[in-house]
Amino acid sequence: MSNRPAESIKRIEGEQGDVNTTANRRKYWKRNLSDEAKKWFEEDKKYFLHQSLSTPVLNVLARAYGIYLEDMDGKRYIDMHGNGVHNAGFNNPAVIKAVKDQLDDQMTFSPRRYTCPGGSEAIEMALMLARQVTGNFKTISFWDSFHGAGFGAAGVGGEEHFSGGLGPMLPGTFHVEFPNYYRNPWNFENSDDVDAECLRQMELVMQRHPEIAAIIGEPISATPVVPSKRYWQGVRKLCDKYGALLIFDEIIEGFGRTGKMFASEHYLTPDILILGKSLGGGLLPLAGIVTKEKYNILQHRSIGHYTHEKNALSAAAGMAEIEYIEQNDLCNHAAKLGEYTINRLKKMQADHPLIGNVMGIGLHLGIDLVSDPKTKKRAVNEAEIVMFKCMEKGLAFKTIEGNIITLRPSLVITSEKMDTALDILEQAIDEVEKGYKY
Ligand SMILES: Cc1ncc(COP(=O)(O)O)c(C=O)c1O
Repeated sequence: MSNRPAESIKRIEGEQGDVNTTANRRKYWKRNLSDEAKKWFEEDKKYFLHQSLSTPVLNVLARAYGIYLEDMDGKRYIDMHGNGVHNAGFNNPAVIKAVKDQLDDQMTFSPRRYTCPGGSEAIEMALMLARQVTGNFKTISFWDSFHGAGFGAAGVGGEEHFSGGLGPMLPGTFHVEFPNYYRNPWNFENSDDVDAECLRQMELVMQRHPEIAAIIGEPISATPVVPSKRYWQGVRKLCDKYGALLIFDEIIEGFGRTGKMFASEHYLTPDILILGKSLGGGLLPLAGIVTKEKYNILQHRSIGHYTHEKNALSAAAGMAEIEYIEQNDLCNHAAKLGEYTINRLKKMQADHPLIGNVMGIGLHLGIDLVSDPKTKKRAVNEAEIVMFKCMEKGLAFKTIEGNIITLRPSLVITSEKMDTALDILEQAIDEVEKGYKY
């Protein structure tokens, strides 16, 4: 393992946002769950294995449609998380119709041999392909990244939350810093310096470990940090120099989220592109890898041999989702509305010292809350209170790394609804700045 700078190690405990173990969370449940919702909440608690990001649940949902979630008491939330599956809107009628038609067609399952059900499996397929192509087995990926919950995917992921306490994961997985211009362990303010140091450290690993099969990362991180084009071009050069493949995980960023169909289009073409989430139309699990013809070399072996490979229903949902995104020009919509939103967030930043930084591109946005703009101390408790205040006012989102609010609405959101959401968010930030305690 490469050495990790001390600043980063200190915050491992807060690396995940909205966990279900905090005192604020208990207050939220007490204040907001109706008696009927409490009953279902207790059922969930009773039957599912408890985990800090899933059970017990935050709330009891009854419906998801368009840009909204609705809980069982009829309260509606503009949802800015959606687990990344809602690019064309939850319950999109075109997707539902395609799946119903497919059901009527009686082709609902195709026995194996003929893509994989989940993102984690697609990551592992990509790792296997990279090993087969290069004959090497080691990887370089990024601290704080998430690539899925399986042993392989969690092994290349950079969050202790998903790999701690498990013993050995994948051998030969090295982690390096993502080029974070606002928060980097060296406190560089110049983005060129950040890029140069990140590339220097990556090359150090490659020099010492010539058996690197692949560098795997999200082209834009989940937080979202948007690297420079120069950075990814530098990584490409290192891959070419040391014979490693470049794998981009676009499970979140694909399908229009960043204002282009794929985030790679802001940078360069990777050797393997990993897709998931919205690929299944927000209805069914579907993920896969896309690669160059020259890597189509596994006639004699099998990777990604899953029972639900090439599932006909998932494929119908995915095709309808892609058509809907193309026909409704959602990539351009995400680009334009994203630009408007980031400008409004920057204006909010000027008025609110709690907002340390505003990040992102398209409808893939993040707000880094700080208790002191100079020291950039992460405002973890404040972020959680802002989140619960927003939930109470009808806006849902996820926090990440403890203090970063992520805004990833469905791409069908209108500018009016975006303004409604930002009004709610600004009000909540204002209240917390004025000393509101949950
Ligand atoms: C960037 C990224 N990669 C991989 C995954 C894993 O996908 P799945 O949950 O479908 O296994 C996720 C899921 O959140 C993700 O955000």
